[in-house]
Amino acid sequence: MFKQCDVLSCRFGLFAAISSFLFGCATAHSSIHDDSQSAYIVLGENGAPVARLLTSDKKCPLIQFDGHDVQMDVRALPEIVPLRPTLSAPTDSKPSIFPLLTCEKGIPANTKHAMIADKQLPLPVAEFKRIVVIGDTGCRLKKSDSAYQECNDSNLYPFSKVAAAAANWKPDLVVHVGDFQYRENECPADKPGCAGSPWGYGWDTWKADFFDPGALLLKAAPWAVIRGNHESCARAGQGWWRMLDPRPLLPGRDCNNAANDEMGDFSDPYAIPLGGNVQLIVLDTSNTINGIIQTGDIRQSKYRDMYNKLDKLSQQADYNIAANHHPILGFAAKKDKLGKVTLLPGNQGIQSVFAAINPLIMPPRVNALLSGHVHLWEEVSFSSSHPTQFVAGFSGTMEDLVPLPAQLPQGATPALGAVVEHFSSWVNGFGFMTLERKGSKQWEVKVWDTTGRQVNACSVEGSHSSCELAQGK
Ligand SMILES: [Fe+2]
Repeated sequence: MFKQCDVLSCRFGLFAAISSFLFGCATAHSSIHDDSQSAYIVLGENGAPVARLLTSDKKCPLIQFDGHDVQMDVRALPEIVPLRPTLSAPTDSKPSIFPLLTCEKGIPANTKHAMIADKQLPLPVAEFKRIVVIGDTGCRLKKSDSAYQECNDSNLYPFSKVAAAAANWKPDLVVHVGDFQYRENECPADKPGCAGSPWGYGWDTWKADFFDPGALLLKAAPWAVIRGNHESCARAGQGWWRMLDPRPLLPGRDCNNAANDEMGDFSDPYAIPLGGNVQLIVLDTSNTINGIIQTGDIRQSKYRDMYNKLDKLSQQADYNIAANHHPILGFAAKKDKLGKVTLLPGNQGIQSVFAAINPLIMPPRVNALLSGHVHLWEEVSFSSSHPTQFVAGFSGTMEDLVPLPAQLPQGATPALGAVVEHFSSWVNGFGFMTLERKGSKQWEVKVWDTTGRQVNACSVEGSHSSCELAQGK
């Protein structure tokens, strides 16, 4: 947290000594030197922009707002976090090493130019009109699934291509719908496609999985960051709080001590005004489960509170887009060994809590949902009073080839009481989605592949949407 520089020097010196001992001076120093340049903006509560810098320097630098120098604050010190319980077995886990200093500063309203040294930061505009949506961007290395994506091949792990193509589209806002970090376990010796990849939850994995491949897009626009299940405390939650969540890093909320996970695994919704009486409401559903949440489970009270706060926030604007990681009103699918495809509904955990408050599941003023988690692109619109759902979990992570059919079976629904009127998907490619504002409640949606080729186009009118193609090719 916010410590004085002498403390920082002391702790960094300790870190340097430990890392030199563990890894050798040359490796540690060369990677730190290359890392000293990550500067970006995240949007927080009420859209407040926060400048962040990850640096190997021992002190946070000055940031310049319209020619005036201001001292950046320390958000998180370099640290070796002792091994904590993770999703993996202890033998497949390790302490998280964060050699960089995280610096931050809130950007005053109406600032026209923000600079850190010679780096110009992409400030928010008054009205966001060109929004890129990406999700599930990391390279999957997971022992329990024997899933080892070929991280070293940008055709097979294409987030850098997606980020470049999305930056080339010139967005004024980037929304990442969660799951940034996938390199959880060591790449086996017989898998040359991921040979040499860092693994675990420390900075080296964040650098390889997000900050390096996403660099062009981080420079292009401010970001709204949505927390995925991969950023829960038992996975990459430490990095999430150090580097991405826009809100203060409170003691105990850093996911470093599993005894505090009830603080670290949940956070309140907040709204980002997009201008023109439209807002994006960010939800942290990272700790939900696939099944019904039972009485006595802390998730029940946490997500009841989330519903009520979402409902209240939605009163602030005439048009509301909610963004969370797990599709609440989207489909997934699985295929069994005999080839039989079963459609799966939206997240049962969130549905079970929200539907107990409101049978329509979402608060009435929420018009659209943006999510990820399922590794495909998908659109669902309803003739019933449910918001249209988009899923954009197709921006880099190995795709499971979720076998969604081009046409849904009669009566198929992702949630009890929801009646599907339109459905579209793209199940076999990587890319990004864009939202272009066309009116007070109208958006044009396009789906793009890694090269910037358009795959599909849709229109959003209020809470409804429809697409040109039933299934992208
Ligand atoms: Fe996920």
